[in-house]
Amino acid sequence: MTILLDMSLNFQVKLASLEMDNPLMLASGVLGMSPSTIRRVASSGAGGLVTKSIGLDARDGYSNPTVYVCGYYGLLNAMGLPNPGVDHVVEEFLNQDFKFPVVYSIFGSSPGDYSKIARKLLRLKPSAFELNLSCPHVKEVGSLIGQDPKMVYDVVKEVKQSVNVPVFAKITPNVADVVEIARTAVKAGADAIVAINTVKAMVIDVDAMKPVLGNKAGGLSGPAIKPISIKIVYDLYENLKVPVVGVGGIQTWKDAVEYFLAGARAVQIGSAITWKGLAVFKEILFGLREYMMEKRFSSIDEIVGGAH
Ligand SMILES: Cc1cc2nc3c(=O)[nH]c(=O)nc-3n(C[C@H](O)[C@H](O)[C@H](O)COP(=O)(O)O)c2cc1C
Repeated sequence: MTILLDMSLNFQVKLASLEMDNPLMLASGVLGMSPSTIRRVASSGAGGLVTKSIGLDARDGYSNPTVYVCGYYGLLNAMGLPNPGVDHVVEEFLNQDFKFPVVYSIFGSSPGDYSKIARKLLRLKPSAFELNLSCPHVKEVGSLIGQDPKMVYDVVKEVKQSVNVPVFAKITPNVADVVEIARTAVKAGADAIVAINTVKAMVIDVDAMKPVLGNKAGGLSGPAIKPISIKIVYDLYENLKVPVVGVGGIQTWKDAVEYFLAGARAVQIGSAITWKGLAVFKEILFGLREYMMEKRFSSIDEIVGGAH
């Protein structure tokens, strides 16, 4: 990243074998994915990106409204995982050489789905896979794969056995014991834990006297969930040996530093892109540089876990 070349500071981070010029990534799902979008993100200052979650077959997602802006505190969304299906993605992205870390996010309804999608995506030479575990459970109606430790174990294990690139497990905060779920993912071979996906939530329109979203319930993201995610990252750092990637409510350099201090080795930015645009990456990098110079840190690694 050219804006960093003149700096003596080391922004590089490593998540298993995935190396990034800096620790800022685009979170899954907030931008539509096309080769041109990926190039735009690559030139924005981000160190890497995660694609929108990709499923086996094309899906339209839920009916509108799918996103609701909750004033100053965030977004409520229930998109229903719309995507064109893995075969379409492979066709569209084949022979694109992004020279930039692209992590492919996968969702499915069974371990077999996840590994089948991962194997198909190998043709795109992914930098890593991120397993979106916030997907409906095949057997237990109303619950998510990420809420069932056995499913989490089986999904991660099956993908790990099928591919030879790093596998990150993205966990849901909507469980009683997040650390237990993350530990299970690590036991199954996860190379990093990404925390967190959105927090289950609802908003009701008092005039219409109905929930605002087409799907009624949705997931909350943005500033409101940051303290929830910081606590989870803090706990994961204390209990796991693999790197933790923090996500939830980051919109300024201070938010990012808070995550590093809690124990995140990298961070992802989602909702803030919708009000700050991709300029948020450079803004955070410059703030981070000032902070590191003031505190006399020479690398991100020196900040990670500093609050413990
Ligand atoms: C509109 C929207 C779509 C999302 N789609 C996905 C998705 O496809 N896969 C996924 O793993 N997370 C998805 N997420 C969750 C984000 O990646 C992220 O975990 C969450 O929004 C918290 O980060 P933030 O507060 O920076 O947005 C989505 C979030 C939003 C707001």
